[in-house]
This record gives sequence, C-alpha cells and structure tokens, in this order.
Amino acid sequence: MEVVEYHQTLGIIKQANIFIGTFITDQDSELKMANTLRNKRLLKTEKHLIDNMNYKSYSVYDDDDFFDKYNQKRSKGNSPNELIEQPIIDELIGDINGKRILDLGCGDGEYGVELLKRGAKHYHGIEGSQKMSGLAKENLKGYDSIIEVGDIEWVEFEKVKYDIVVSRLVLHYIEDVGRLLKRIRESLNEEGEFIFSIEHPIITSCYESYHKEVKRGNWIVDNYFEAGERVNIWIGKNVVKYHKPLEDYWRIIKKSNLEVIEIRESKPQASNFEIREEFERRDRVPLFLMFKLKNK
Ligand SMILES: C[S@@+](CC[C@H](N)C(=O)[O-])C[C@H]1O[C@@H](n2cnc3c(N)ncnc32)[C@H](O)[C@@H]1O
Repeated sequence: MEVVEYHQTLGIIKQANIFIGTFITDQDSELKMANTLRNKRLLKTEKHLIDNMNYKSYSVYDDDDFFDKYNQKRSKGNSPNELIEQPIIDELIGDINGKRILDLGCGDGEYGVELLKRGAKHYHGIEGSQKMSGLAKENLKGYDSIIEVGDIEWVEFEKVKYDIVVSRLVLHYIEDVGRLLKRIRESLNEEGEFIFSIEHPIITSCYESYHKEVKRGNWIVDNYFEAGERVNIWIGKNVVKYHKPLEDYWRIIKKSNLEVIEIRESKPQASNFEIREEFERRDRVPLFLMFKLKNK
C-alpha cells in the first residue's frame, strides 16, 4: 500500500462569543447566594462557549471524543449508513470487477476493503482527517491501494484515470459542489461514473429535530429553499454542513457535463432490518439522497 501525505491549512471556524461577567463581592448572604447562582451560570456559559465551536469540513473527525463516539456508532453495524445508504450505493455502483476506484472522503477505508474484495482493480481513497486516514491506512494494509491525506476541495485528482469515483456522505460538507464536480469529471475515464450520497435536503434544511435526546418521531423541514450553511449539533459538536435544495443539485450537475443516470431517495428495505419498528420509523422520512452520474 502506498501512502501519500498531503498537508494543508484548514479553515476551522471557531465561533466564540466572549462572556464578560460582573462578580458581586458583598458579604450579605442573599448576595452570596446570588453570586453562587451567577457563577453557576458562568460555568454553564463557559461550557456553552466550548460547545459553540463550529467545525467545518473534516475537522470534527480529528476531535478525540467525536472520533471515538462516531466510530462506536458505525461499528455497531446497525446505523442507517449500513442498513439504508450502503445497500443503495452498492446497487448504483454495480459490477466493479477490474475497475479503478477513487473514493472522496473515504473515512476509515472499510468500504475500500470491501470493493477490493469484490474485485476492484485499484482503490484510491482521499481523506481529510488525520485520525480517519490513519484508520484507513491500517484497514487497507496489504491491499493494492493508496490512501491520500488531503482536502478533496484542493487535492489534485489524476486526469482521465478512474472508472468509478464514489463519495459517501461527504458532499454536504462542501459549499462549492460545482467546482468539485468539474474536477471529478476530468478525473473520469470516457465511460466513467460518479456515484455519491448526501444527507437528504429535507434533513439538511433544518436540524432542529436533532436537539432532542429521544428518538425522533417527526422531522422538522424549514427554510428549504434557502441554500447555505447549517449547524448540526451532532455527537455533542457543532458541525457545519451545507444545505442545497434538490433543484440546486440538478442545476449544478447539468452545468458539470455529467449525465444523471439515477436518483435515489433512500427508501429502506425491510429485509435489511432486524427490528420491524425501526424499519417502520425509517420508512417515513428519507435520510439520504443518492445520484449516479456518467461522463458525457
Ligand atoms: C460521514 S463520514 C463518511 C466516511 C465514509 N465515506 C463512509 O461512508 O464511511 C464523512 C467523511 O468525509 C471526510 N471529509 C469531509 N470533508 C472533507 C474534505 N473536504 N476533504 C476530505 N475529506 C473530507 C470526513 O473526514 C469524514 O471521514
């Protein structure tokens, strides 16, 4: 396995509003009590300050706590990624025998291992997070593969090289998807395909329903037509994602000279679920949106 290190400066945006507190020093007991309450609130405010850091792009995956919790969730094997998203991506990718594959935002590289086991000729993963790419390098040891550490918005892709470019649940971290699509198209062979998934725009439109600690029964869709930045409080962190209505994706794709072969809205299959109630819950609201595009 070849390992390429690519370093870049990442624009991690940290939003912090400085809290200026006034302390009351009077010895009167009532005032003391007020003081204690005020200090408690101050502690809360400090916690709020820490929680108020907004993580852009892959930066959150390099936070120790987030990294551990995210990987714990994924390794359970019953996340919507495994039960809903991957089966559809597999269908869209189809036969990969002998194909050269580029995976943008490859995460821990587990999918690369699967693709190579299924007969892919070569796997090239690009991943921004040092921690995730470290896992990917471990997982792909001994396979004919490259793991490149870098930002998919800036790393140069080899031109006219890949039969398939895949990107699973990464493009909602990218503001300028049009620019990325243009570069992806240039990296594809004449018959090459680009298959990708994102969080469904009805999810990225508004993350209010994520704030509750109970399992969601209803989802809030709001400000749907207003494309742009959204902050998703996810695994205890403020994660920045980019919402675009479906028609914006359509326009961006049309401009990119890639042809839409298929669109899927992640309808779950009952046979993939062990628990009937979980299937019924997931069968109500589309979590993901997938596209299969082809070079024109
Ligand atoms: C939700 S995870 C999905 C990982 C993998 N594709 C999968 O489906 O298991 C998103 C991944 O995209 C990576 N990522 C996000 N923005 C990126 C960027 N601009 N460049 C490279 N990697 C990025 C993150 O570090 C993270 O590993």
